[in-house]
This record gives sequence, C-alpha cells and structure tokens, in this order.
Amino acid sequence: MFRKVAMEKTLCVIKPNSVSEGNIGEIIRIFEINYFEILAMKMTKLTKSQAEKFYEIHKERPFYDDLCTFMSSGPVVAFVVCDDDAVERVRKIIGHTNPEEAADNTIRKLYGDNIDENAIHASDSVKTAQSEIEFFFPNFEQESFETDYID
Ligand code: CMP
Repeated sequence: MFRKVAMEKTLCVIKPNSVSEGNIGEIIRIFEINYFEILAMKMTKLTKSQAEKFYEIHKERPFYDDLCTFMSSGPVVAFVVCDDDAVERVRKIIGHTNPEEAADNTIRKLYGDNIDENAIHASDSVKTAQSEIEFFFPNFEQESFETDYID
C-alpha cells in the first residue's frame, strides 16, 4: 500500500550563508529528528536571473535585488520533504523570517545571520510548494519517488 504519496510536500532551500558556514548537516539533521521524509536533494548555484525568477513574487519589494544577489552569491542546497501538514510544520521549525524575532531552537534563530541571510527558505503554501519544487526539480511529479514507500 502507498503511504507517503498522498502526503503534503514542500520545498526548502538552505541558503548560501548556511552552506559557507558549514551548517548543511546540522540543518538536515533537524528535519530528520523531526521525522520528515526527504524525497529529493540537490546542491546548486543559482544565477542572478534564476534567483530573480525563483523570488519573482517579491519583485516589487525593496529587498528583492539584495535578496537575489545574496541567493546567487554561492551554492544552495534545495530539498523536498513530505509529511502530513508539511508546509506548516516546516515553517514552524524554521521560525520567523527575521532571525532576531525567531523562537529559540528554530533553524533561523540558530543559524540565521540577518533577515536576508536567514539560513533557509521554505515554501509558504501548498500551491507555492508545487511551483517551487518544479523550479528546482523539474519533472519531480513524473519521477517515481513513490515506489520507495510501498509497504
Ligand atoms: P525567504 O523565506 O527566503 O522568502 C523571501 C525572503 O526575503 C525572506 O526569506 C527573507 O530572507 C527576505 N526578506 C528581506 N527583507 C524582508 C522583509 N522585510 N520581509 C520579508 N522577507 C524579507
């Protein structure tokens, strides 16, 4: 019987500051100890125009250019996790956008440096997650991750 297939999926991106500060492993571990299933993972370096496309929803915001410059400044690690209520659960463990306002023991509190370099991005809704997963993992839905989860 298929178990995880129907579960909610969301996209996370470990930002360049976390990669350069050597925190990839610590961050992934937090997902593992919180029982998230990791379905796909990739390290890549975005071009500025790829970062602009990824964050297009923010293009009118004053922080857009700095954010895209930062996100294309070094490698990132993108990964897809699934769980019941994955979008909300992930947002809870990563914490407030601004690390200064994030709760203790959240990823952004632990590893964020400032509001742009806030350690990790995660999709803010199920709909956004679909397009963000497609951005980093084209054909994700066509690939057969599901067969690993047959009971
Ligand atoms: P992220 O989850 O990657 O989504 C958009 C990013 O914009 C956000 O995290 C922050 O890093 C960055 N950002 C910078 N300034 C702001 C702001 N005032 N409000 C929201 N996001 C901001």
